Amino acid sequence: MVVTIDTDAGLFRLAENGRCEERPLFDPEAFRILSRQWLILGWNLGYWACFSWMGRQLLQLPDDVLRLAELLWRVRPDVIVETGVYDGGSTLLFASLCRLAGRGRVISVEREFRPGVWAAVMEAAGDLVTLIEGDSALPETAARVEREMRRDERVCVFLDSDHSARHVAMELRHLSHMVSPGCYLLVADSICADLAHTPAGEAAWKYDHPGTAVDEFLATHPEFTRTRPAPLFTGEFDFTELSYFPSTWLIRQGTAEARPRAPRQRALAAPPRTAVR
Ligand SMILES: C[S@@+](CC[C@H](N)C(=O)[O-])C[C@H]1O[C@@H](n2cnc3c(N)ncnc32)[C@H](O)[C@@H]1O
Repeated sequence: MVVTIDTDAGLFRLAENGRCEERPLFDPEAFRILSRQWLILGWNLGYWACFSWMGRQLLQLPDDVLRLAELLWRVRPDVIVETGVYDGGSTLLFASLCRLAGRGRVISVEREFRPGVWAAVMEAAGDLVTLIEGDSALPETAARVEREMRRDERVCVFLDSDHSARHVAMELRHLSHMVSPGCYLLVADSICADLAHTPAGEAAWKYDHPGTAVDEFLATHPEFTRTRPAPLFTGEFDFTELSYFPSTWLIRQGTAEARPRAPRQRALAAPPRTAVR
């Protein structure tokens, strides 16, 4: 792909696969193509690792943070289950949103807490956060999470731990039933396929990424639909594409009711323990 931005002439040119098109620079399609590349180049430079929340590193794209805040403000769950704590930034972000809403608390699972993280999170928001050390792919970890909530509570789940397809498939298997009707199951970093060719990416991400697991999950779970709420404020362009997981927002269909019990299922072998980032 060869892109030319001609600010003098106000033109955007794209040459790809032997075809060349020209359009006004301020055309939404020009912005879509450029922002896609910006997202990929920025990811490769570690843009996602340059932010913090309440002094703890937060590994998210700022656009995703605001979209998550919009969603949680709208849904107002009683419980947010998170996998993948890292430095505690997202845990404290979710806890802050619960505090602002006057409703909700956070249950966060981490395979191995880094030094100081547990204490820092507990000091900042211990009244709203339950931390669980364990492998989020395992049914026994899911059982520990479930023991921390009541069956009539409204639950959203955010998966952001190991981003291999196999691991996410296991998380979906063991945690998805906790999501309440009308609530969301969010799977982070599903744009891995677009990053596979970058210097910081891995070739295997072309197929081994959270999006693959979500596709397979949706094929057998009609109670979930791939959708995200329309932003309250929008322009002519769909800015929700500016995301590291634009298409892995799943809503559980149905009306508010007690969550179903965990389905009986065969145990799978433990997945490889490699985190993508
Ligand atoms: C991408 S980081 C989480 C970032 C965090 N959610 C944030 O937004 O700041 C992934 C985290 O998942 C953890 N992790 C990796 N494999 C895991 C597993 N099998 N079970 C639980 N946590 C895991 C890693 O140790 C790491 O802290």
